[in-house]
Amino acid sequence: MVSAFILIKYVFPDNESPSASSDLSELEESKPLPIPPLLEDLDPDPNKSEFHLTAQQGTSEILNGVESETLGYNGNILGPVIRVHKGEKVKVKMKNNLDEGTTLHWHGLRVDGENDGGPHSGIMPGETWEPEFTIDQPAATLWYHPHMMEKTAKQVYEGLAGLFYIEDEVSDSLAIPKEYGVNDFPLIIQDRKMDASDNMEYSPNMKDMMMGLYGNAFLVNGAIAPYLEVPKGLVRLRILNGSNGRTYDFSLDNSQAFNQIASDGGFLEKPIEKSAVRLSPGERAEILVDFSQYETGEKISLINTDSNVYAASASNDEMDKEELMEFAVTNKESGVNEIPEQLTEIEPIEPKSAVKTREFVMMGMGTTLTINDKQMDMTRIDEEVDFNATEIWEVSNQGAGKNGGMAHPFHIHGVQFQVLDRDGNPPPANESGWKDTVLIQPKETVRLIATFKNKGVFMYHCHILEHEDAGMMGQYEVN
Ligand code: C2O
Ligand code: CU
Ligand code: CU
Repeated sequence: MVSAFILIKYVFPDNESPSASSDLSELEESKPLPIPPLLEDLDPDPNKSEFHLTAQQGTSEILNGVESETLGYNGNILGPVIRVHKGEKVKVKMKNNLDEGTTLHWHGLRVDGENDGGPHSGIMPGETWEPEFTIDQPAATLWYHPHMMEKTAKQVYEGLAGLFYIEDEVSDSLAIPKEYGVNDFPLIIQDRKMDASDNMEYSPNMKDMMMGLYGNAFLVNGAIAPYLEVPKGLVRLRILNGSNGRTYDFSLDNSQAFNQIASDGGFLEKPIEKSAVRLSPGERAEILVDFSQYETGEKISLINTDSNVYAASASNDEMDKEELMEFAVTNKESGVNEIPEQLTEIEPIEPKSAVKTREFVMMGMGTTLTINDKQMDMTRIDEEVDFNATEIWEVSNQGAGKNGGMAHPFHIHGVQFQVLDRDGNPPPANESGWKDTVLIQPKETVRLIATFKNKGVFMYHCHILEHEDAGMMGQYEVN
């Protein structure tokens, strides 16, 4: 066991600091990274699975022995990992034990509208919702979270989020780390605003409502600055940016390069060597980090080096290069030392096959956040899409306000898409696979292409949760 003391830089965002510009440093004993349990499949049939989830209230000790009120699925905070196989018939029973309505949305999963868990699928307190679907997409790291109108930001912040893994013949046969909690680890990254009494309450101020919430502490799987013992050799990290508003550039403190092997919707064709990976809220990346050259006991940190204008102004400079967690190398072996050259094959969707191009203009002016000049209306269908049609969605960000506006992560339910171009240029290699969320910079136009193979009503929205709740969302119907 590693017993480590780490220094947590505890920074109050401007004007909330009890004593101006105070940089309260606290000595906190580092905790081991919590590893969410794998949820038990209650159906003995190998081609079927049944999962039970309960959304419930609880408390969690986030900082300095203070119990914060949190929400979780089957626990006090976050939820178990649901792991399914392509082709499986999945049944879920989701019980709402909260004292308010919620929904359960499968982010990135291709299901019909009625099983998608969007804002129309409210589950009232005491009720159970039972979606059913067949897994019909490649291996990927997806996630689940609530999607209740105007409550999403608060409920996710308070702890409702979990991972959803799909495995298939490709992920089964690739020689990559795949032993859950041994050489294949989930990392749910979230920032939270700890108040002066070390409590993690959702209390967004006006700036948070405008820009998305930026916290003063980082959680990984619900713990502040935890450590993880890792074997020598290759280790797979499945990273979810589950934050409400913050975009991260993830890198290692010694600048060691790693290989990105998957994006939101599954494997990239080939591993992409990178020294930093940027994820906006909702996005995922799987990376392989090589720990073979370290001595037993050596420590390497995962840090955030995001230099986005707002992040820098939201907190103090200390926050620009913040430690998220630490890896402590053990004398065990991961058993995988070579990175495969080829991971999968991704058939590009031909722009010529698109029957329609739609335009989406995102705009943010103070707390008025719109897509195509409209705010979300549950009773209005904004776009009608033909069943099985391939379409190009041209999404632009008409930045407004100071700094020329801010970046917005655009997310579409019910599909995985491909990025055709960013301002006319081909996307970077790590955005050349399947995606369901894409960050769009001020004044930028991104073209996406997708085939709409599931019927029903689906959302598209900004995945900054305060923006989504403020109405930066629309609905499309596939019929
Ligand atoms: Cu991650 Cu509409 O959702
Ligand atoms: Cu979604
Ligand atoms: Cu936004």
